Amino acid sequence: MRSHVIYSQDGHEWIVIGRDTEKKEEIVDTNQYLIVSGNQGMILDPGGFEIFSSVIGEVTKYISVNNIKIIFSSHQDPDIASSLALWVDIIKDVDTYCWWGWQGFLAHFGMGNAIKLIGIPDEGMEVQIGTSNSFQYFVPAHYCHSSGNYSVFDPKAKILFSGDIGAALLPSDYTDLFVTNFDSHIQFMEGFHKRWMSSTKDLRAWVARARALNPSMICPQHGAIFEGENVGRFLNWLEALEVGHWNRGQEDTNVNNCVWMKWKK
Ligand SMILES: [Fe+2]
Ligand SMILES: [Fe+2]
Repeated sequence: MRSHVIYSQDGHEWIVIGRDTEKKEEIVDTNQYLIVSGNQGMILDPGGFEIFSSVIGEVTKYISVNNIKIIFSSHQDPDIASSLALWVDIIKDVDTYCWWGWQGFLAHFGMGNAIKLIGIPDEGMEVQIGTSNSFQYFVPAHYCHSSGNYSVFDPKAKILFSGDIGAALLPSDYTDLFVTNFDSHIQFMEGFHKRWMSSTKDLRAWVARARALNPSMICPQHGAIFEGENVGRFLNWLEALEVGHWNRGQEDTNVNNCVWMKWKK
């Protein structure tokens, strides 16, 4: 597991933890993010049970685990939140946040200890860590891809953590942390977004929200980070994308294309 500081100013830092060259082949690579502000920490999408020991090994290079005050899960997937029980087991005083509708479902990741999750309302909310007015905003990203889903915006760092939006499944020899050539990066994002994003309408609404926030960086949970001009390029590409249906290159309304109908014959 690797970690890099991607923003640092006046005691306020963002660290990306990921690009695990030692991960098992069958595990999809994930980016975990740590915000450290005023000696308090917040983890964005803590990751899976499988990578917990590697992630905590990197986190403790920057902050004592007992100073982590908030763990945020953008949605319910195992690669996002299956490590939650392990985190709450070792950190006694931590607030864990997810969409209100996922509370009872994420509690299934409990391993004997109760995971008490704070439900985020549909419209989002703000939280604070540290002592220097470090507010983080949970920005609605519903149906992009999960039905209850958020991004996180940090106005101080001008960073937008986008969860699975902007995710890229990169080949193992792709080592750049940031997107360097947007046009050639599309091939790693397109299939993922077409399959996993469930609503074109909601995706475009998220693009409008992201533009209004005017971030300097967009940080996805898989793949490389968008920075500078690539932020605008990415938002333009996303806005033009059609998602939310299972496209097999044929009419979905033709029931005879369904395997079940062939069995029936
Ligand atoms: Fe996901
Ligand atoms: Fe994911």
